[in-house]
Amino acid sequence: MTTLDRITPIRELPIESKRVFIRVDFNVPLEDGKITDDARIASALPTIKHAASRGARVILASHMGRPKKGPEESLSLAPCGERLSELLGMDIPMPEDCVGDAAKKVVYDLRGGQVCLLENLRFHAEEEKDDETFAAQLAALCDVYVDDAFGAVHRAHASVHALPKMMKERGCGFLLETEIAALGKMITAPEKPFVAVLGGAKVSDKIAVLDSLLEKVDALVIGGAMANTFLAAKGVNMKASKIEEDKLPLARTIMEKAQAKKVELLLPLDVVVAGSIAAESGTVVGLGEIADHMMALDVGPKSLEAFGKLFAKAKSIFWNGPMGLFEKAPFANGTFTVARMLADADAFTVIGGGDSAAAVKEAGPEVAAKMKHISTGGGASLELIEGKKLPGIEVLRR
Ligand code: 3PG
Repeated sequence: MTTLDRITPIRELPIESKRVFIRVDFNVPLEDGKITDDARIASALPTIKHAASRGARVILASHMGRPKKGPEESLSLAPCGERLSELLGMDIPMPEDCVGDAAKKVVYDLRGGQVCLLENLRFHAEEEKDDETFAAQLAALCDVYVDDAFGAVHRAHASVHALPKMMKERGCGFLLETEIAALGKMITAPEKPFVAVLGGAKVSDKIAVLDSLLEKVDALVIGGAMANTFLAAKGVNMKASKIEEDKLPLARTIMEKAQAKKVELLLPLDVVVAGSIAAESGTVVGLGEIADHMMALDVGPKSLEAFGKLFAKAKSIFWNGPMGLFEKAPFANGTFTVARMLADADAFTVIGGGDSAAAVKEAGPEVAAKMKHISTGGGASLELIEGKKLPGIEVLRR
């Protein structure tokens, strides 16, 4: 089940004057201690502002990165606290730990409408173990639990799973609600024709999602390095291109399954090749024309034209994974062109987090603004599309 059934939205929770624990996903990219993309913080603002405006005493909690053993300064949530303080125009006190006396002091001192941010939950190994004693320490800080951390709902971790299990008053924030509604629509009632676009490096990362999408879509477009494996499985000599040799049989099975289900499976018709990923330019060649020692690093113009024809007919489009090595300018055209075509398509367009969301943002604000939904979750959006029950969502149901 992926709908919002039996999940109480924050607007229906009794939060007035209460201590409200909001699990957010502030796991944002950092470079030299500076936030390079604050989208996840900005996306949580409607929920935070709503709670504060209703007089709640707001306790925000998140993970950051994957600390190995206890606190790591480089994974502190301090930069997020600073950014949030700028965005909300208010002081955000940050206790040095998410539990214990320091946290209690800050939380108990909060007045209605004030917001604090706890330190990285993963500084305690118990968080990832879904530990109930740790969760009980978090529960002691609050009266109401709200999950707005879509990017983390696929993790059965203490703040996402054990804690809400203990809370009578629990529900979802606006971001989580929007994510479940948009991605849920894709798998429960997509308007047809439904086209999925999958890319990225590895077939192995996408097996489960490929399998479940084949049950639902009318057409499947495959690009990125994973398309190399499919083309090789069809007998195209991909020369020095990156291929997963051990996934060739799987690629054949997927193609057979698509045929049996009458799902149109569109692979690149031409590719942009170069001698190495460091090359300063690429050359467009047809399949069968790839010279020795050359590797495919992007899809070519004929492919994009064919993809575009499908997008023009589609009523629902789901995209996950870049079409090429878009981080390098000579191989970014395929990914950015797909982003622009989806933005202009007359369809319900959903971008499944991670690299594709980053690519859409890089393609420009006008492109991002035209998408119906850009997910803030990478792994979480894929698992939801696969049809899995996600622990952080299921635990919220009444
Ligand atoms: C993400 O960035 O996808 C989420 O914040 C989850 O992070 P994780 O993969 O480290 O659990």
